[in-house]
Amino acid sequence: MAAALIDGRAAAEALRQRLAITADFFRASTGRAAGLATVLVGEDPASGVYVRSKGKATREAGMQSFSHQLPVDTREADLLALVEQLNRDEQVDGILVQLPLPDQIDAARVIDAIDPAKDVDGFHVVNAGRLAVGADALVPCTPLGCLHLLKEQLGDLSGAEAVVIGRSNIVGKPMAMLLLGESATVTIAHSRTRDLPAICRRADILVAAVGRPEMVRGDWIKPGATVIDVGINRVAADEDGKTRLVGDVAFDEAREVAGAITPVPGGVGPMTIAMLLRNTLVAAHRRAGLKVPEDL
Ligand code: GUN
Repeated sequence: MAAALIDGRAAAEALRQRLAITADFFRASTGRAAGLATVLVGEDPASGVYVRSKGKATREAGMQSFSHQLPVDTREADLLALVEQLNRDEQVDGILVQLPLPDQIDAARVIDAIDPAKDVDGFHVVNAGRLAVGADALVPCTPLGCLHLLKEQLGDLSGAEAVVIGRSNIVGKPMAMLLLGESATVTIAHSRTRDLPAICRRADILVAAVGRPEMVRGDWIKPGATVIDVGINRVAADEDGKTRLVGDVAFDEAREVAGAITPVPGGVGPMTIAMLLRNTLVAAHRRAGLKVPEDL
């Protein structure tokens, strides 16, 4: 039997409706809307699309969006000055500096300069550390979205064998920490892992976040496993010359074996922006000294 499809669009839409209600409550109790500032340096078309869709989603949820567009030759010192200004701005609860940044700017320095309380990407070492020790953190949006989908699909993850392929600070490592927090048994696999297919075949939960098109094959998957595909890879199409998006998992093969699987597109992707809105609301509540709603 073919795997169930995990509908990230529907899950994200449901979450965004809930967040809009929370955003209204926040506005009613504080007299101001929660605010997200986005910073885009340069004119990379894909980054532009991402940042604009983040701004649009922010406004649709009843929050304020502040967008800053800087020229591609912006000096690091000028970007750091903008971050400092946003750190001090009382209207701004979340700061997102879109990556990648141009070569003359050290991204680590910029992330380091963001107030951890406003770091809605969850990239600051303070938030990574808080996540690692199980304290209140702002958690990177993509793994948070994956966890949401997994809990909706499976309920309790306690004792499950989880394999995360990829060890990035943005997805792999925080994903592993979140799964550990749910009492799963977690393996982090990566490019140097020996016999990756055999490791993957142990997984009740398989999260692929490597950025290599269709790397995970059907025979790497344990029958009935839940597969979360974080990959968004643009590849040349077969005949018509247009490009198409594929994940890190060979979807058609995997679908024959897995119990449930996220499609690409329409799986993890839509959850990422919803979680950015969530993190902005979490940051706004904490900054205002309000209790963060349980179901956020
Ligand atoms: N570039 C690609 N994904 C992301 C993200 O989640 N956050 C930021 N800041 N930049 C990105």
